[in-house]
Amino acid sequence: MEQTLGGPGATRRGFVNWVLGTSAAAFVLSVLYPLTRYLIPPKTGESQAASVTLPIKPADVKANSGQIFKFGNRPAILVRTPAGELRAFSAVCTHLNCTVQYRTDLSHIWCACHNGHFDLNGQNIAGPPPRPLDAYVVNVRGTQIVVSKGA
Ligand code: FES
Repeated sequence: MEQTLGGPGATRRGFVNWVLGTSAAAFVLSVLYPLTRYLIPPKTGESQAASVTLPIKPADVKANSGQIFKFGNRPAILVRTPAGELRAFSAVCTHLNCTVQYRTDLSHIWCACHNGHFDLNGQNIAGPPPRPLDAYVVNVRGTQIVVSKGA
């Protein structure tokens, strides 16, 4: 018995083609979606915070010490110099974005990733960091420390 166009065979063939087509489309999507998510980074951007009040009292920050805090969505470092001055910088190393830390033995800021050194003005003084740390403004208001971006 011969099948004619539009007969039961054509319907079965159409169904099989539809299944194969949707499977191929699903496969292509399953490859393209992660690929595009990888190639197009999410929009996090720079921190929008203009200032932050730290949960630390000025009297609790000892001379020749530093501590990391969050400035918006990025790490920052508050430093009390050996002379007693409070300073704050971005804690994101200008080399490859590791988080820097304060070295009490050296009395300056240090990046453990590739041995980068920054002085107490945030200037890169040794190692691979190509530029200084971004400096923030520190204001002490009573028992509060307020750190803000410069003008
Ligand atoms: S990331 Fe800091 S020195 Fe390389």
